[in-house]
Amino acid sequence: MLPHKQIEQRLQQAVRTVLPDADQATVLVRPCPDAKFGDYQSAALMALAKPHKLNPRQLANEVLAKLDVRDVCEPVEIAGAGFLNFRLKNSALVAALAAAARGKHLFFAKTTQPRIVVVDFSSPNVAKPMHVGHIRSTILGDCLARVLRLLGHRVITDNHLGDWGTQFGMLLVGWKRDLDAAALQADPLAEMERLYKKLSAECQENPATLEAAKQELVKLQGGDAENLRIWREMIALSQAQFNTIYARLGVKFDHTFGESFYNPRLPALVEELAARGIARESEGALVVFFDDIAPLKKQPALIRKSDGGFNYTTTDLATLAHRLETWQPDEIIYVTDGRQQLHFQQIFAAFRKWQSGSRVRENADCALTSAATRPEMKLAHVWFGSILGEDGKPFKTRSGETVKLADLLDEAEERAFQAVSEKNPDLAESGRREVARVVGIGAVKYADLLPNRQSDYVFSWDKMLALNGNTAPYLQYAYARIMSIFRKAAGTSNIEHRTSNIELSAPEEIALARQLLNFGLVLEAAAAEYRPNFICNYLYDLAGLFARFYESCPVLKADKASRASRLVLCDLTARVLKQGLDALGIECLERM
Ligand code: ARG
Repeated sequence: MLPHKQIEQRLQQAVRTVLPDADQATVLVRPCPDAKFGDYQSAALMALAKPHKLNPRQLANEVLAKLDVRDVCEPVEIAGAGFLNFRLKNSALVAALAAAARGKHLFFAKTTQPRIVVVDFSSPNVAKPMHVGHIRSTILGDCLARVLRLLGHRVITDNHLGDWGTQFGMLLVGWKRDLDAAALQADPLAEMERLYKKLSAECQENPATLEAAKQELVKLQGGDAENLRIWREMIALSQAQFNTIYARLGVKFDHTFGESFYNPRLPALVEELAARGIARESEGALVVFFDDIAPLKKQPALIRKSDGGFNYTTTDLATLAHRLETWQPDEIIYVTDGRQQLHFQQIFAAFRKWQSGSRVRENADCALTSAATRPEMKLAHVWFGSILGEDGKPFKTRSGETVKLADLLDEAEERAFQAVSEKNPDLAESGRREVARVVGIGAVKYADLLPNRQSDYVFSWDKMLALNGNTAPYLQYAYARIMSIFRKAAGTSNIEHRTSNIELSAPEEIALARQLLNFGLVLEAAAAEYRPNFICNYLYDLAGLFARFYESCPVLKADKASRASRLVLCDLTARVLKQGLDALGIECLERM
């Protein structure tokens, strides 16, 4: 067991003896914010003291009297208002590293309480190219899915493709009247986008075109064979282009149901909400009001328009019901930009009303009943800010167009290729191309994951491709550099350093070891708060601590015992770097 878990368990036991009715789930041990005070810290006793009307420091003393962690820690200190500070014994650090070297763990443990988590991400719209806004959803969502899986949860990914909606009326008019077959063949999404732009402009000016678009949409909704055929073709062409991008990004989905999948459910859903009084008529439309929920008081949600049509909200409610029936998830995570915050607040609030109503209707609807008997399902909107150009305005091409994802990835690889060619002119071109692919795609992903996701960030090629600084290439090179140490240490087989004795004496060795030990805590925090940037910063610090260690502690030139011990540190650092980058969806190479 990892030392911080050991400390946590014993602390919980001690708390149980002193306060038998305390909620043990709140008794947690976290990394100490300042290494001066120790390796780990617990703030739990202060929180427990309050409701029990105890003096926190006195409670800390009582708990300490029952706490025995002498085998793992130096004497525990009480600090400030009642913090407990723990400093690991050197022997505990060594034991944890040795267990990792033997392959027992890589400083994280799979959860003992796996949850079923649906991640709804990427979700581009058919007949429109994927643009940089979708890149964040794709990269963030994929990363969260990876981290949750790594920690042992059952993750189901669903790409909620925008394959239905009023834009298809316009697209159908354009397709029938103005389609350029050759252009469609050459670049299907560009041609569909051209049609969409042309027709939406025309609809603004010409009521006859607008009417024609409405007619085509009605025909499509009514199941007209010709319109359905064209619509399906548009989806297939778009999906093929999306798939090319997903393959380049290494992103996979378990499901791509798309909005249209839920069409058959919409009428009954709306009727049920109306019959239960959750939705009511307003000016010919059907609306859910949230008068009882303060922030949504003046923000009712439309679920059926006055022309009888359904919308994005209706579809999302049906999607939720379907997911609940099909997978009974413990949590659903939606990854979109911040402009959809209101939409998801409404969806979650409407769904809660719907679901709580179902508790009364025992067994009438098995899906909703099962939800009622399970602990509350968690719904999370994980939103992010915009990508800005270096001028601080929304990121655009020189000519003012939105940047297409495919072009962006091409440019990333091209720029990385130039850099690699300068650095490594002797490498064969195919080798340089491969390094450029891994570095270019990795740089784009990392630049997207590193900032706090809710802030806007400035897109800068120079920054993201820099070899120095908090970037993917820096971490990828750090990994490759360690691999080159092992190549130089020919004859040092894995077997040897897996069983070597570990000694930690130099402060740089100890600092590196401590950082390694925290990998799991960082993964858990990133998953709990949906913040991949925690992992980025952790890996960056790890690479920095490794560099300091490598500068001050000779490895290959050290005497036999230190050499073996230090090679273990090298190996574990490389493995954590690789696993951490993999959790971010970023590849690395043995040689660069
Ligand atoms: N297609 C939408 C867009 O491009 C995103 C869908 C997000 N998922 C959802 N269940 N609403 O903005």
